[in-house]
Amino acid sequence: MSTKVAVIFHSGYGHTQVVAEQVAAGAGSVDGVEVAIVEASEITSAESTALSTLDDASAIIFGSPTYMGSASAVFKTFMEATSTRWMEQKWVDKLAAGFTNSGSMNGDKQNTLVEFMTFAMQHGMVWVGLGQMPGNNHSGGSEADTNRCGASIGCMTQANVDQGGDVAPPTSDRETASAFGARVASAAKRWG
Ligand SMILES: Cc1cc2nc3c(=O)[nH]c(=O)nc-3n(C[C@H](O)[C@H](O)[C@H](O)COP(=O)(O)O)c2cc1C
Repeated sequence: MSTKVAVIFHSGYGHTQVVAEQVAAGAGSVDGVEVAIVEASEITSAESTALSTLDDASAIIFGSPTYMGSASAVFKTFMEATSTRWMEQKWVDKLAAGFTNSGSMNGDKQNTLVEFMTFAMQHGMVWVGLGQMPGNNHSGGSEADTNRCGASIGCMTQANVDQGGDVAPPTSDRETASAFGARVASAAKRWG
């Protein structure tokens, strides 16, 4: 039987969607893992049918752009729509992980990941971090390094605000996201 991993994301302008696709591709590259991608806008209440995709998954990966130093309003709507799942503690012991993309290199992305982690803890989930050494933090480093944002609790990517999702975020971030997806999927297989 395959291990199910769900990626739920919001993207207003396409950058975070590119990251979500990379995360999903990485997760799907792990043998025996089946990946579902859900747009957060599909889940606005406890009655939203797309919630069942998350119910069925062993691991749920949360992704949102950082807007005003926080997860986007669309993503927050999804989070609040899960409150009935929280009351039932239906997602206890599922794995959880998160990614966020913003325009600035820092951009307060940490806050978005901490929001995701807190949300996962409320649901009794088990948090999986990025698991990659920081890149671009020494004299020989460069923007081409994976994990160039130097994250650890989740996957951070940066997209220049004047470029579209065809080129931003750059290749190094896409590789970071793909490896992150593979890590979470591998962890889900081990976790069972
Ligand atoms: C309403 C709004 C708020 C934003 N707030 C931030 C922010 O706090 N930090 C930041 O670095 N970029 C911020 N940005 C820029 C976005 O994070 C950036 O353009 C990102 O790539 C958008 O992702 P998306 O294309 O998936 O929507 C903001 C953009 C918008 C539209």
